[in-house]
Amino acid sequence: MIFPFSFLLPLVLILSPLSTPGSGWSCLSGCVCEKRGEVNCSGRELHAVPKILDARILDPTVQVLLLGHNRMAFLPPGAFTFLPRLISLELQGNGLQRIHVQAFWRLGLLQTLDLSVNALQTLEPGTFQPLRALQILSLAGNRLIRLEPMWLGPLPLLQNLSLQDNLLSSMGSGVLDRLPALRILNLHGNPWVCDCTILFLCRWLRSQTHQVPGTESLLCVSPDRLTLRPVAALTEASFKYCAHPLTPWDLAVISVLGPFSFLVSLAGCFIVGSLLTAFRARRKKNRRIPRRPVKRPIPQTLDQDDPSKNPTTHFPTPSCSL
Ligand SMILES: *[C@@H]1O[C@H](CO)[C@@H](O)[C@H](O)[C@H]1NC(C)=O
Repeated sequence: MIFPFSFLLPLVLILSPLSTPGSGWSCLSGCVCEKRGEVNCSGRELHAVPKILDARILDPTVQVLLLGHNRMAFLPPGAFTFLPRLISLELQGNGLQRIHVQAFWRLGLLQTLDLSVNALQTLEPGTFQPLRALQILSLAGNRLIRLEPMWLGPLPLLQNLSLQDNLLSSMGSGVLDRLPALRILNLHGNPWVCDCTILFLCRWLRSQTHQVPGTESLLCVSPDRLTLRPVAALTEASFKYCAHPLTPWDLAVISVLGPFSFLVSLAGCFIVGSLLTAFRARRKKNRRIPRRPVKRPIPQTLDQDDPSKNPTTHFPTPSCSL
C-alpha cells in the first residue's frame, strides 16, 4: 500500500525545511536564524531592513531581531509590520539619521529597543507611540540636542531609559512626566547648561525615588560661575533669580490690565495734550495784548510802581517803551 506513494518522498524531503521554524529557509534574506525565535542580521552591511522572502515561511514566533552594526540611515514606515510578535529589536551602530513616524507600527509587544550609537538629531512626535509595552529604550550615543515631551512619550511601562553621550543641555519637566514607570535614567556625557531650564532636572535628581547611574558625573558646562559643578549639587538658592511660571490668574490680570492701562495712558495723553494746547493759546492771547500799548498811558504806571518793593518793574519792558 505504501509503495505507490514512495515517488513523493524526495519532494517531501525538499519541502520539509520550509515548514521547520528556525531553519535556514525560514529566515530573512541575508540573515541567520540559528536560535529559535531569533533572527540575526547584524554586521551585514545592510542599507535597509531585509525584505521578507515569503510571509508564510517566516517563523511567526520570531521575538528577537538583531539589525545592529549595519548601514541603515533611514527607517521607513511599517518597517517591521511583518514581525508583530517582536519583543526585542536591536538597531545600534547603523548611522541612523531619521526614523519615520510610522516605522514602529504594529510592534505593540516590543519590550526592548536599542537605538544607541546612531546619528539621530531629532525624533518625530509620536514615533514611539505604538510601543505600549516598551520597558527598555536606549538612545545613547546619538546627537540629540534637546528632547521634546512628545518625542518619547507617552510610554506607560518604560523603566529604563538611556540618554547618555548625546548633546542634551536641558531636560524639561514634560519629558519625564510622560514616563510614569521610569526607574533608571542614564544621563551622563551630556553638556548640561545650568540655567533656569535645569531646575526641574535638579529636583528630579535629588528626589530619591529614581536611579540615575553616575549622578555625580553630571556636570554643568555653563554658565561660567557653575562650570564643572555637579548638577545634582545645585541648591534651590542657585535658582532664586528664576521667574516662576505664570498662573492662569496672572495671565488673566495681565490680559485685562494690558489693554486697560493702554486706554488710560491714551486718555491721559489726550487730556494733558488738550490742557497744554489751551494753556498755550491763552498765553499767546496774553502776549498779544501788550502789542497794542500805544494808547496806554505809560508814564502814569511807572510813577505808581514802588521800586523798593519790586526792583524789576521799574525797568520798562521793550514792548512798553516802544
Ligand atoms: C549575529 O551574527 C553576527 C555576525 O555573523 C555575529 O558576530 C554575532 O555573534 C551574532 N549574534 C548572536 C547573538 O548570535
